[in-house]
Amino acid sequence: MALLEVLQFPDPRLKRVSRKIDTVDDEIRELAANMCEVMYDEPGIGLAAPQVGVDLRLIVVDTEWGEDGQGKNPIVMVNPELSEPEGKIVWEEGCLSVPDFTADVTRAERIVIRGSDLDGNPLEIRAEGLQAVCFQHEIDHLDGILFIDRISRLKRNLYVKRRKKQLALEAEEVVDTRGSRL
Ligand code: NI
Repeated sequence: MALLEVLQFPDPRLKRVSRKIDTVDDEIRELAANMCEVMYDEPGIGLAAPQVGVDLRLIVVDTEWGEDGQGKNPIVMVNPELSEPEGKIVWEEGCLSVPDFTADVTRAERIVIRGSDLDGNPLEIRAEGLQAVCFQHEIDHLDGILFIDRISRLKRNLYVKRRKKQLALEAEEVVDTRGSRL
């Protein structure tokens, strides 16, 4: 099967609030497997279902795997919820849905995440550092929030302007290519 496409800003589907998953069935398990594939292929350390156009509360996270493709051990969580935030950490974040941009974001340094696994069993994770950042970033996606919504308006506006210019240029290139085929 072809890899799922990752939606990119400013796709309006990234702004949706995702729905709770009632039953973990084969469809959800297949979606999770496909999301892991996309995450490792990009490569990334986390992915949320809305990024592949599905408005369901499902995330995959793996902050440990190496660039050589070793040590893959994805955490898949259904209906994840954050609690018990502690401390503060500033991390330079990027996102597969926000091309060509990174920025410092402040989040909780330690956090507890509760949800269920792909067998429908309760799953609880205590995360800190990069893993805590990643869970908070992915759960934000489920609420239609991108990391650029958590930076200063000035920085965000600069990025939005640059991104629009880039998209306009890409659109022109498509027209040019088509023209040359006449
Ligand atoms: Ni992201």
